[in-house]
Amino acid sequence: MPVPARASITAVHGYVPPDLLTNADLARMVDTTDAWITERTGIKERHILRGEGLGTSHMAAEAVRGLLEKTGTKPNEIDLLICATTTPDMQFPSTANLICDMVGIKDIGSFDVQAACSGFLYSLNIASQFIANGSARKIIVVGADKMSSIIDYTDRATCVIFGDGAGAVLLEPSNSGYGIMDSLVRSDGAGWVHLHQKAGGSRIPASAESVKLRQHYVHQEGAAVYKFAIAKMAEVAGEILTRNNLRGDMIDWLVPHQANKRIIESTAEKMKLPMEKVMVTIQKYGNTTNATIPLCLWDYEPQLKPGNKLLLAAFGGGFTWAGAYVQWAYDGASAPRLTAKANGANANGANANGAKVNGNAS
Ligand code: UT7
Repeated sequence: MPVPARASITAVHGYVPPDLLTNADLARMVDTTDAWITERTGIKERHILRGEGLGTSHMAAEAVRGLLEKTGTKPNEIDLLICATTTPDMQFPSTANLICDMVGIKDIGSFDVQAACSGFLYSLNIASQFIANGSARKIIVVGADKMSSIIDYTDRATCVIFGDGAGAVLLEPSNSGYGIMDSLVRSDGAGWVHLHQKAGGSRIPASAESVKLRQHYVHQEGAAVYKFAIAKMAEVAGEILTRNNLRGDMIDWLVPHQANKRIIESTAEKMKLPMEKVMVTIQKYGNTTNATIPLCLWDYEPQLKPGNKLLLAAFGGGFTWAGAYVQWAYDGASAPRLTAKANGANANGANANGAKVNGNAS
């Protein structure tokens, strides 16, 4: 029997839209302060996609175009594209279908994965199995969300947290032995009551009444979600370590979902990892749902070396949670960084990808 191929991440790229929404802006919109947001969440600003008719696919396509450009990959070389999103452009077709059309990818499988903030890690797990069974050699996994499209900017409990963005990785069979060494996905549907969007699906289709009742926005019971997130992020990290005979001090980088700086710090503490080994971008992007983990990888790419041991962990609505153990496959410092022109955020001076400049601020 042939030995299953191991999938490895061979490139990463990200995109955040140019417009910024700062804590000072929010303090003018709702009853909040920069001090409260910074202390309770770690967020200082987030990027917001503005422009008529622009949806999640716009940001995802930017990230995918950059990924193709920096790796010199032609659209017709891609075998599969998976988009992890909670804010699809439309109910159907899938955002993945739309992204393929926008970047010139045709005649391949493409589909969306919905697992709220854990969707990117769910997608990585699925994609690695396509590589393992030999049915795909080049797969793009893109995590993208236009959270601003489902946020109530009169609700201070949710509007300060979320931002928009996209991040994409290229997966290929490993030729180094490094790659996705292990990954797991979990859920508990009883958690739906604490974090969901009530209307717009088949249970409560959109109506004048649902709009009037503000049911098309994120409903989050923050404290309840926080409690589960703290427990499950630590649990999934612990399970990944145990399954792979690792201790926290053997991990080079923790790559946590960026929902709240306090959840990130608690996870690191339970793993006995110093914050210098934790990727943190929440201060400048906020919670971009499916984009948080690939945006971290993009920001920190210049610091990643072959063989680095990364532990990825996420928790989100559903509830869902997921983890992965990745051995980094390439020298991030040698990977091309695209010019400001190709990078929406940098084009506007927002310095989206300067891990050496302002990543890992704690
Ligand atoms: O990514 C998917 C999963 N999501 C998460 O993991 C999010 C988990 N939850 C959290 O990160 C935190 O619960 C939040 C950041 C959402 C909220 O922080 P918290 O410390 O849990 O605050 P809280 O909801 O318990 O509210 C504490 C107080 C309340 O006032 P009272 O009742 O004590 O007078 C809130 O009304 O803080 C108030 N508050 C605010 N005050 C100023 C809530 N939001 C704000 C705000 N500005 N923006």
